[in-house]
Amino acid sequence: MSALFSPIQLRGLALKNRIMVAPMCQYSALNGEANDWHFTHINNLALSGAAMFCIEATAVEAIGRITPGCLGLWNDACEAALKPVIASVRKHSKTAIAMQLAHAGRKASSHTPWDGGQLIPLADGGWQPEGPSAVPHKDGEATPRAFDEAGLARVRDAFAATARRAARLGLDALAVPCAHGYLLHQFLSPIANRRSDQYGGSLQNRMRFPLEVFEAVRAAFPADRPVGLRVSAIDWVEGGWDLPQTIEFARELKKRDIDWIDVSSGGVSPLQKIALGPGYQVPFAQAVREATGVTTMAVGLITEPKQAEEIVASGKADMVALARGMLYDPRWGWHAAAELGGQVDVPPQYWRSQPSTQKALFGTTTFGTR
Ligand SMILES: Cc1cc2nc3c(=O)[nH]c(=O)nc-3n(C[C@H](O)[C@H](O)[C@H](O)COP(=O)(O)O)c2cc1C
Repeated sequence: MSALFSPIQLRGLALKNRIMVAPMCQYSALNGEANDWHFTHINNLALSGAAMFCIEATAVEAIGRITPGCLGLWNDACEAALKPVIASVRKHSKTAIAMQLAHAGRKASSHTPWDGGQLIPLADGGWQPEGPSAVPHKDGEATPRAFDEAGLARVRDAFAATARRAARLGLDALAVPCAHGYLLHQFLSPIANRRSDQYGGSLQNRMRFPLEVFEAVRAAFPADRPVGLRVSAIDWVEGGWDLPQTIEFARELKKRDIDWIDVSSGGVSPLQKIALGPGYQVPFAQAVREATGVTTMAVGLITEPKQAEEIVASGKADMVALARGMLYDPRWGWHAAAELGGQVDVPPQYWRSQPSTQKALFGTTTFGTR
């Protein structure tokens, strides 16, 4: 009996296994609107065998995009563009669909990674980023504008409005982004947050805005559908955000009925020194789970079925999320199920691919011809 292929319940959402396709920016939208690339990409990975697919970081307002190509859901055009993508997934796949909401804060107005990823100056078609403080991500870069109270209210409302649009699109779950150096992580981390008002300074103050946003999203999304959150557990920089603070943050989120915490790390400073290796962030997920009992997802260099199985079976995390491994092998879930004795939902068009040695892999299937 595979632990990875055992069911889990997130609020009203029943998942058949513990695998999520992690959110992955495609930098391929125009004006935030999904197009043929998103249609193909999302439909492809919706057949991975993972019980949940998380749509990439989706900006809640245009200036919150990392790059000009980032996906958005801030207006009717964005909502209409996603509609046929979701409809197609629903037609052909049983995967649950989550979406990661997004605001890049001071890391907005960047080139796509394949164009170098650097800040786009205003003169070259960039836009003015806003962040917790007037402190650039990288020394020497143009300074972001610090949010005033009205700006914070605008962003909070934008998160809630996007959550309502996501609910209308029929999405099953939402993930609030507090990782990788984007806006809400910038509030948490003393490296990016130098405010002297109620949103800066003490841990309680630095957590305030991310918690307000979480509450706003939770309130805007139907009560039976789960809302989780991705956090960077540590900044990998001396004096930055760290694991004890993450655990305090997780305790606050638990009080607000969070449905899962997906534990990543890094992204707030170019000075970070990351100790990379297989499953390198799993101990952070384990620490959060042990300290708080919140449902956790482990992510980061989880590539092998047996590795994922061990993480879940040993109680280090409740679920795993895979990103690059899924791009490399978009049927990763099928292959993991074959290796671990699990079962996956596969559309009938593909049933004939079931290996002769794996009679139960796709469940009960029948196929006749004459
Ligand atoms: C192409 C690509 C795009 C990504 N976009 C996002 C994103 O939209 N939001 C996010 O939180 N992380 C993003 N990530 C990070 C992944 O979700 C994941 O945390 C990271 O790649 C580590 O997992 P992996 O080793 O399985 O790839 C992205 C990663 C890749 C490779």
